Amino acid sequence: MELEAAIEAAGQRMIERLQTLKTISSNKEWLERILFSPAAEEAAYRLKGWMGEAGMEVNYDALTNVTGWRSYAEAGNEAPAIHLGSHYDTVINAGAYDGTLGVVLAIAVADVLNTAGVEMKHNLGVSAFCDEEGVRFQSTFLGSGYLSGQFEKDWLHMPDEYGKTLGEWLVDRAESIDELLAAEPFIRPQDYFLEAHIEQGPVLEAAGRALGVFTNIAAQLRSEVEVIGEAGHAGTIPARLRKDPLPYACEMMLAVNQLCRSDERVRATVGQVEVRPNASNVIPGSVRFTIDLRYPNEAGLTQAHEQLSADLKAIALRSGLEFRYRVVHQAGNVSCDAALTDLLSGACEQEQGDALRIFSGAGHDSMKVAGVCPVGLLAVRCRKGLSHHPDEFASEEDCLMALRVMLKAVLALDRQL
Ligand code: HGY
Ligand code: MN
Ligand code: MN
Repeated sequence: MELEAAIEAAGQRMIERLQTLKTISSNKEWLERILFSPAAEEAAYRLKGWMGEAGMEVNYDALTNVTGWRSYAEAGNEAPAIHLGSHYDTVINAGAYDGTLGVVLAIAVADVLNTAGVEMKHNLGVSAFCDEEGVRFQSTFLGSGYLSGQFEKDWLHMPDEYGKTLGEWLVDRAESIDELLAAEPFIRPQDYFLEAHIEQGPVLEAAGRALGVFTNIAAQLRSEVEVIGEAGHAGTIPARLRKDPLPYACEMMLAVNQLCRSDERVRATVGQVEVRPNASNVIPGSVRFTIDLRYPNEAGLTQAHEQLSADLKAIALRSGLEFRYRVVHQAGNVSCDAALTDLLSGACEQEQGDALRIFSGAGHDSMKVAGVCPVGLLAVRCRKGLSHHPDEFASEEDCLMALRVMLKAVLALDRQL
């Protein structure tokens, strides 16, 4: 098939597949597809089929990453490969484009090359990463970390909200965990990684642009706070005898919010709060809440984190209650590879006349993969900059333009290497 016709056909399949994945959810009221959920399994099944239809050898690993591989290089599998991909897991009450667009777009590129019979010089890998949002274990980048050979063994001991650890989940899925962890990385130091992702911010829309190119990704940290007092009867215990953790936890959550308001570059969020036993006539026994802290660079993040930790400890001291604090995840800010950023910008200029270079406050699998090989990140406009929200939206035109730009970039990279 002629290239232009192949792009049209693959583009239509990409849009249809976005709509299909939008309906695959663990929850009837909203979109939710977290690691190891039945919805994630169903989505993986579809992704395997689509990658196969795009002429790829497909693999579904025990962590539930779905990968496609197409050998083109005469030099065989050791030659540098071009990798595309993003994540197919979602947050809770998610939008339909965060991660998912990058996955179906990567498959669409493979689809075009296959349908049009394009003879690439470099092997092509496509990855649908299983866990970028980190909803189940409060960590993140489990899928891209594993596929790029950066899995950390202590991740096996992370418990989910039911106390089931990643290792216990894997026992049900892997023949042998040691073998799973000893596997050759799919994405290697000699390779290149390109990701398309919605901007999750307002810059492109404000500039009237469909596409842009990310140059840097913010440093991020996730932590958990637990304040432990003593549960009791709401009707019989006077305030002076209570060991109620809730008011102190509220002061701590306020401190997080004050930090966020204190500096425009800081992003500090309490996203999850658990009061136990969570009954209206019981004085809480304990309160657990999460903190998501971001800053454009690592030095600023460290400083903000030190300040916040001091504030939390001061409140805990005054409470006289037990205080537990645990950093669950931390990632330094990442610069996208200059040459790949130029390549994506060049392709973007050909399609839309220019290429805005922007910063990402949102994290992406590219951050993790950047620890192993050069990465480039194409940004796609999303309406009102809304994301991690059911109204998250990228237009068909913008998604199809992103496919064209990514295809151009892949063909240019294939020639350049
Ligand atoms: O939280 C993030 O930045 C990403 O959407 N996981
Ligand atoms: Mn994402
Ligand atoms: Mn996200």
